[in-house]
Amino acid sequence: MSETTFTPRVFSGIQPSGNLHLGNYLGALKRFVDWQAKDVESIYCMVDLHAITVWQDPKDLMKSTRELCAGFIAAGLDPEKSILINQSQVPEHAQLAWIFNCVARMGWMQRMTQFKDKAGKNAQNASLGLFAYPALMAADILTYHATHVPVGEDQKQHLELTRDIAAKFNHDYGVDFFPMTEPVIEGAATRVMSFRDGSKKMSKSDPSDASRINMTDDADTIAKKIRKAKTDPEGLPSEAKGLEERPEARNLVNIYAALNEQSVDQVLADVGGKQFSEFKPMLADLAVSKLAPISTEMARLMGEQDEIDRILTRGSERAREITAPILRKTYEIVGMVPPVQL
Ligand code: TYM
Repeated sequence: MSETTFTPRVFSGIQPSGNLHLGNYLGALKRFVDWQAKDVESIYCMVDLHAITVWQDPKDLMKSTRELCAGFIAAGLDPEKSILINQSQVPEHAQLAWIFNCVARMGWMQRMTQFKDKAGKNAQNASLGLFAYPALMAADILTYHATHVPVGEDQKQHLELTRDIAAKFNHDYGVDFFPMTEPVIEGAATRVMSFRDGSKKMSKSDPSDASRINMTDDADTIAKKIRKAKTDPEGLPSEAKGLEERPEARNLVNIYAALNEQSVDQVLADVGGKQFSEFKPMLADLAVSKLAPISTEMARLMGEQDEIDRILTRGSERAREITAPILRKTYEIVGMVPPVQL
């Protein structure tokens, strides 16, 4: 266990691989905006190196990266307060990842459920990068000595691995250099489920567009998707335990609570006893009022591509002031001969 006290610093990332959706927003992005208000140094990253662990069309990747940056800003991240970067512009992420590839064990990686899900039945055909994905994620976090990482529930296992890598590095080299990062999994919607199937998480890779709300959807599309979301025939209960065996109903209530910044109990105190025919239009109005301004602002920012590129470049310069000394020290600990002044 770490004896050193590390200065609080927040890091998190989102993959620019397709549309930003409501799960990303409620599980992660909205939480980033909450952290920004706490005045802790924060770095938020478009993880383009992670995205290419599965095939990405180069033009789409560029567009998605800029769109994700537009989404970050439209949702309330201020590039003056938070550092916004794309991963490939800060080379220390990939450099530290190599060191961690040599610290992490094959068996640890084989247990990762995200790898198993994404590789599917044909794991032999998955990229080596997909297998090593969590080591790069640990490097993202630890190259800043980040102490807190806000994420949705699906990233919990990766964050436990990040702690294992930090602990093994510290132990093997007899140092107290990397912090034990805290996952921050908070709010009423840490696992937003598909609108088509309450047992599957909302995801950008779901072939059905009706299964999710994209942050680029307009007001009509958002309302229509909520109206068509799968539910059961019962009315809403007045206490959270009445949602236990009702995944679709629970999902919609969780979304309402997260969007309205209430607890599930507070929501049910208001809407308990209502039918979905009444609750869905309430949810649709709330979702449109919160999400449509973000999609409008994203579209406006996408018209200012040069400004987005400048924000990312400036972000990476600020980021490297933190990452370069940490990587230099890591190399020294590992025993790499440093360059000298010629
Ligand atoms: P990604 O791009 O899959 O998702 C980005 C964030 O959104 C959260 N999320 C959800 N939250 C609630 N409900 C959902 N249905 C849902 N779907 C996604 C994720 O938990 C995540 O917080 N490996 C990461 C990206 C990453 C990263 C990092 C995160 C790379 N390096 C370092 C934190 C720190 C990923 O694939 O996220």
